[in-house]
Amino acid sequence: MFKLNNKVAIVTGSGSKTGIGRNIALTLAKQGASIVVADLNAEGIQDTVKAVEAAGSKALGVELNVTSKESVDKMIEKVLAEFGRIDILVNNAGISQKVTVEDMTLEDMSKVFSVNMFGLFLCTQAVLKTMKEQQFGRIVSLSSVSAKRGGGVFGGAHYSASKAAVLGFSKNLAREVATDGITVNCVAPGLVNTEIWKSLPEADAKKVIDSIPVGRPGETDEIASTIAFLVSDEASYITGEEIDINGGSHMD
Ligand SMILES: NC(=O)c1ccc[n+]([C@@H]2O[C@H](COP(=O)([O-])OP(=O)(O)OC[C@H]3O[C@@H](n4cnc5c(N)ncnc54)[C@H](O)[C@@H]3O)[C@@H](O)[C@H]2O)c1
Repeated sequence: MFKLNNKVAIVTGSGSKTGIGRNIALTLAKQGASIVVADLNAEGIQDTVKAVEAAGSKALGVELNVTSKESVDKMIEKVLAEFGRIDILVNNAGISQKVTVEDMTLEDMSKVFSVNMFGLFLCTQAVLKTMKEQQFGRIVSLSSVSAKRGGGVFGGAHYSASKAAVLGFSKNLAREVATDGITVNCVAPGLVNTEIWKSLPEADAKKVIDSIPVGRPGETDEIASTIAFLVSDEASYITGEEIDINGGSHMD
């Protein structure tokens, strides 16, 4: 089940040392996919490439700024030259910023949207031609529990708004490409055990844990394994959906 042999997957934002993206890259690699490790962070890219290769899969590292159409187009060119196809896009690159609406500037709003929504749009648009030609594609985007209930621990209202925009965008696109063998889905993690969580003062961490029925933050594995399912052949009839992965902290 969930084998990804001969599949080519682009994972944006997969250069972060303790981030979700690296785990997604590794998890898809272990299922047999070749991985395009795309990130702003050149050093992080190399570490993920080595880890993917150590897991027995092919990896192509590409320096990418998702906010630049030129950068995105260059990445697509490299991927097609190297692998000749694109089966999976995981839109994972994202930024957050803790600021109240009162203190937020238009620049803050614009910066968060430019990565979390406009960058996601550019990457998504860029893979559609190839996926349509193949009549196969899987697109999964990282939303967040904060899109549905607000109040992200580390993000402001602009972050929540950008992650809500990702949900609407994905549902619309899912309808547009539904007869082309392309599925478009989102995952909406709650708090995940990454670097930023580890840096939280103990009292704040306790407050957060108390609000999670499962009583702990999520692990990056738990996000990656859900994505491995959504991009598999077995998930061919799931599109326009979002899966909450939040330990019960928000139930639709
Ligand atoms: N960590 C959490 O608790 C949590 C919860 C819900 C959703 N998410 C979402 O999951 C995704 C990954 O989060 P994370 O915690 O692993 O973050 P992270 O900061 O560890 O990793 C994000 C990666 O994106 C890259 N990136 C940032 N801007 C970029 C750009 N313009 N172009 C290319 N790459 C860029 C960074 O270099 C970094 O490697 C994000 O979209 C985030 O919003 C995270």
